[in-house]
Amino acid sequence: MIESKLDERRAAGMVQEKGKEPAGFHEPVLRAEVLDLLHPRPDQLYLDGTVGGGGHAREILEACDDCLLLAVDRDLEALSVARTALSDLRDRVRFMHGRFEMASEDIEVRDRGLDGAFLDLGVSSHQLDSDSRGFTFRRGVALDMRMDTSQGHDARRLLADASEAQLTSVFRDFGEEPKARRLAREIVKRRMTSPLETSDDLVAALVVALRRSPSPQDKARIFQAVRIAVNEEVESLKLALPAIREVLNEGAVLVVIAYHSIEDRVVKNAFRDWSKECICPPEFPICTCRGRSLGKTLTKRPIRPLPDEVERNARARSARMRAWQRAA
Ligand SMILES: C[S@@+](CC[C@H](N)C(=O)[O-])C[C@H]1O[C@@H](n2cnc3c(N)ncnc32)[C@H](O)[C@@H]1O
Repeated sequence: MIESKLDERRAAGMVQEKGKEPAGFHEPVLRAEVLDLLHPRPDQLYLDGTVGGGGHAREILEACDDCLLLAVDRDLEALSVARTALSDLRDRVRFMHGRFEMASEDIEVRDRGLDGAFLDLGVSSHQLDSDSRGFTFRRGVALDMRMDTSQGHDARRLLADASEAQLTSVFRDFGEEPKARRLAREIVKRRMTSPLETSDDLVAALVVALRRSPSPQDKARIFQAVRIAVNEEVESLKLALPAIREVLNEGAVLVVIAYHSIEDRVVKNAFRDWSKECICPPEFPICTCRGRSLGKTLTKRPIRPLPDEVERNARARSARMRAWQRAA
């Protein structure tokens, strides 16, 4: 069991070598670079939309004496861990349960705007480690995968209800699985006789689709794909970016760390579009839009962790960080 937990965390980039401390709730990814871009200042209000275990939140709060933080997570367990972890800073942090796109509706945020915002996307090792949360491909785990267990449909429901075409696109788009169609077909065939309820059921379908025993990396990709679909992670990000941009004060910076190429592309395209000076269609003879960019991208290319960070914290391996600044 312990061995397979390590396999899973390695496959998901959560652990580098046997014996090294697992990442996620422990070492904040690109810690110094995040602070450099956000540059927290006293009396200013910041958003951590993915507070998780509170690692980055602590860094932000400790970087300046009097700054304030709105700490959001859709996972109630994560919020409870963060509340405890940040109890010594409780006067300057306020917690909010929900999806990060909701942060822009917070009364204080609407009232005074944000002086900086941060998203560290994806899943934490805390979520992946708890069998009861059903994110894992370890044996005998009931599939759930909801970050917010108070609502929404779990992975069992997705595997039971999604059409073959929908499942194919989940495995192809989010899992980059070459045998996506075959896997979707196998799931649809199996669920006609008995529903897919556990990690073993999904792995068994994968064995048939691949016609071989799947590696931990194969399983990690497929389980990640289901997780992204269950939590509507890409949709949430697409809603959140413009919502957060709208409440950024002049000169405020939005920093996003993505671990999946689709999410990174969403961030890159949004930042590029917001930085354009003119958004009129090319056939317009004169500019009828605002003709002034909303702000500028601070990161021409995504910032990647240096090898020594990846060596310490394998979760950082796939991290790509981008930042955008609202015009003054
Ligand atoms: C990578 S962890 C964050 C780790 C955190 N930066 C730290 O240092 O401890 C990602 C967290 O974001 C949360 N999350 C993911 N998508 C979310 C969303 N759309 N809205 C709110 N929270 C989300 C997850 O529940 C998870 O706790």
